[in-house]
Amino acid sequence: MEQHLLPTYKRAPISFVKGCGVWLETAEGAKYLDISSGIAVNILGHCNEDLVSVLIEQAKRLWHTSNLYRITNQEKLAEILTKHTFADVVFFTNSGTEATECAIKMARKYHSHNGDTRHEIISFEGSFHGRSIGAISTSSSQKMIEGFGPLLPGCKSIELSDKGKILRSISKKTAAVIIEPIQGEGGIKIVPDHLLRSIRESCEKLGVLLIFDEVQCGVGRTGKLFAHEWAGVYPDIMTIAKGIGGGMPLGACLSTKRASEGMGIGSHGSTYGGNPLACAVGVEVLNQVLSQDFLTNVQKISGYFSQRLGGLMSEYPSVFSELRGSGLMLGLKTKIHNTIFVEAAFEQGLLIVPAAENVIRILPPLNITEVEVDLAIHMLSKTAKSLSH
Ligand SMILES: Cc1ncc(COP(=O)(O)O)c(C=O)c1O
Repeated sequence: MEQHLLPTYKRAPISFVKGCGVWLETAEGAKYLDISSGIAVNILGHCNEDLVSVLIEQAKRLWHTSNLYRITNQEKLAEILTKHTFADVVFFTNSGTEATECAIKMARKYHSHNGDTRHEIISFEGSFHGRSIGAISTSSSQKMIEGFGPLLPGCKSIELSDKGKILRSISKKTAAVIIEPIQGEGGIKIVPDHLLRSIRESCEKLGVLLIFDEVQCGVGRTGKLFAHEWAGVYPDIMTIAKGIGGGMPLGACLSTKRASEGMGIGSHGSTYGGNPLACAVGVEVLNQVLSQDFLTNVQKISGYFSQRLGGLMSEYPSVFSELRGSGLMLGLKTKIHNTIFVEAAFEQGLLIVPAAENVIRILPPLNITEVEVDLAIHMLSKTAKSLSH
């Protein structure tokens, strides 16, 4: 009964009982092509067979012990993550928001550990880092912050397009800069490489820690393991979630040894973070994403998908105005209201998600096939046709 739920979501009037690959099915047998992957989560598709086997195997053996004891799967997952990234250490969480909290706390603690009182956190307009008080303090969205104050002191949200202002804002009072290399909720906006590089340089010069939020754009989504690899610019701290669990609630805060210096015993914790079940799945997700040809295939299929979306744009100039994105994190800016497009696509049996700036987001599983892309294009085309004039 929906009336017993806190009404924070405007949900579609549908519920699914089964999922397989890129498909979702209702109890009545109606099938929907899901190119949103539960908002960039099911990166290997729904009920990926290998993930299911790993989960069942682990479920039969051990679910939960708490972080009072060593957790082998957590150590394995941390080893893979550190081997393939800038990071030396990992703290596991159950969500992206918790990873943001860990990142902010770590940044502040780093400075206090070094005898510095700086606590200012710089973020960017349009960014999204989660819904806790800490995370919304880094947001500029009235809808997210109104009525929840007072927020964390020292948080400043800067316009992403104003490079001069950004660089002038970073100072010796700044503890950290937090940025999504590609804004997801903000409308699939890629931060230009030169801007990431300049921010990195300023941070370096002024002793500021740089946090990349790769909760949405990370774990293979752009065709590299992490989106910042395209720019060759590396953070001190990085938050991840969504894709790493392939559907299991799992997130993490990765960092260099230096940035984590202040985080000693008792400084942070989580009852469930890094539990055996979620980490077993996380290890299998990375085994697949890091297997030979996987990321090359993401690059190939995303090239095909964007080329087809480009065609769609020219076919329906009254509906679409811009194609955005990188890899399989794609966005189409619509001339009609994006939620009207999302609802019309839903009527065609296609699941997509809206984002800011009137963009519709396309975030399919990373192993989507060319045939499935063609089908998605066909459904998008039918949707656009039904709305064009
Ligand atoms: C970039 C980014 N950061 C953080 C979050 C928060 O993650 P979660 O909803 O898992 O708490 C999200 C969720 O959409 C996100 O897209």
